[in-house]
Amino acid sequence: MSVLDAIAPPVEVPPIAGAGREARVALLGHGLIGSAVSRLLRTIANRGPRPLRVTGALVRNTRVRTDDAPHPFFASPAALFEPAPDVVIELLGGLEPARTLVLDALGRGIPVVTANKRLVAAHGDELVRAAARSGAAFRYEASVIAGVPFLGTFAARPLAAAVNRVVAIANGTSNYLLTRIAEGLSFAAALDEAQRLGFAETDPSRDIDGSDAADKLAVLARTFWGWSVRPNDISTTGVSRLGAIELSLAREIAGSIKPVAVAQQIGGNGSLFVGPAFVAAGDPLASIDGVLNAIRLERTGELPLLFSGPGAGPDVTARTVVDDVFEILAGGASIRPQPAHRPTLRQHRPSGWFISLGGSLPETAEIADLFGAYGLWAKRWSEPRPSTGGRTVALLTHSCSPAAVDAAIARLKSVAAIDAMLLPVLEAGRE
Ligand code: HSE
Repeated sequence: MSVLDAIAPPVEVPPIAGAGREARVALLGHGLIGSAVSRLLRTIANRGPRPLRVTGALVRNTRVRTDDAPHPFFASPAALFEPAPDVVIELLGGLEPARTLVLDALGRGIPVVTANKRLVAAHGDELVRAAARSGAAFRYEASVIAGVPFLGTFAARPLAAAVNRVVAIANGTSNYLLTRIAEGLSFAAALDEAQRLGFAETDPSRDIDGSDAADKLAVLARTFWGWSVRPNDISTTGVSRLGAIELSLAREIAGSIKPVAVAQQIGGNGSLFVGPAFVAAGDPLASIDGVLNAIRLERTGELPLLFSGPGAGPDVTARTVVDDVFEILAGGASIRPQPAHRPTLRQHRPSGWFISLGGSLPETAEIADLFGAYGLWAKRWSEPRPSTGGRTVALLTHSCSPAAVDAAIARLKSVAAIDAMLLPVLEAGRE
């Protein structure tokens, strides 16, 4: 039984204002998410007060049928737009032809729903302007943490959205990978699982190298502060260098390694970071595992808000996409982020460093002395353990500039044949 079968019977769609005429929905794309949206739309088509009908889906190859969807498949956008859809759902992924087709639909006054974070991150300003010009709604709630609808709420509530720091675990695939590797799976086997479950992108390198999370961070920074940032503005590292040993060492020194995305606003400046970070065991984000995502909204001197829920997967995403369609059919407006401006960005300064060292290691006391000469002080060490090529140890340091840490590690490398991995420590949110 699929998840949809399980949820289908109790789904009661609440009355929609302006109900009556059948709503025609056109799909751009019919891959994993597109098929799930199409199935969900058919499942609820006659349960709600307003009938819904999928008028067709745009696909690259009309001969390749991925499921038994009864609606037509088109290779030409003109044929898809011909029955004058009431809503277009964009699920092609990527930048083109998604951007051109969404602009085309909005230009014709047709509302658009998308789950395409890459598109919203790169062209959100342009699409929001196009929607404002034509009066057609543009919604993208499923683009960030697909199972937790929050973007539209915060975009419409400036007082609740007045936060200083946003910390998210926003990529389900990389969080799933780290969780499963810590449980003993190889990287390849864990990635295979994530792909089979439909979490990973068509090109999973965007999940693994942090690009997908960087897109989502750009959407978040735009929503909360109106920052207009490009992916290149975001310091991004991926999870591929991490193995079971680093994950286990982190546990030994009371934490977890999590793929985080952090945006911080300080005065007129900001910083953006995407990559794996050490999260202390007491931080609620340390227990966000698997495909679970989370977002913490922090405001200086106040208690944070924390939302968590599934971040990826066809059925989860389909629900949020279809809710956006309902919102539009009920007369709901676009998701309108803060007015756009370019922020002044500076380097992310973490509250400390997790350093794992492997190879021909000197004694711990010698490493501590060498690091101390650079102002790098450890507050916790793991027990050294045997590993390929010698021994491995991990330490957690107090705050120190990235330049000083780099210099200390370079000095250690000049006296010993070692490898080092350096991860920032995530500053805990005020509890
Ligand atoms: N590939 C994405 C992820 C899908 O793993 O989070 C949801 O955006």
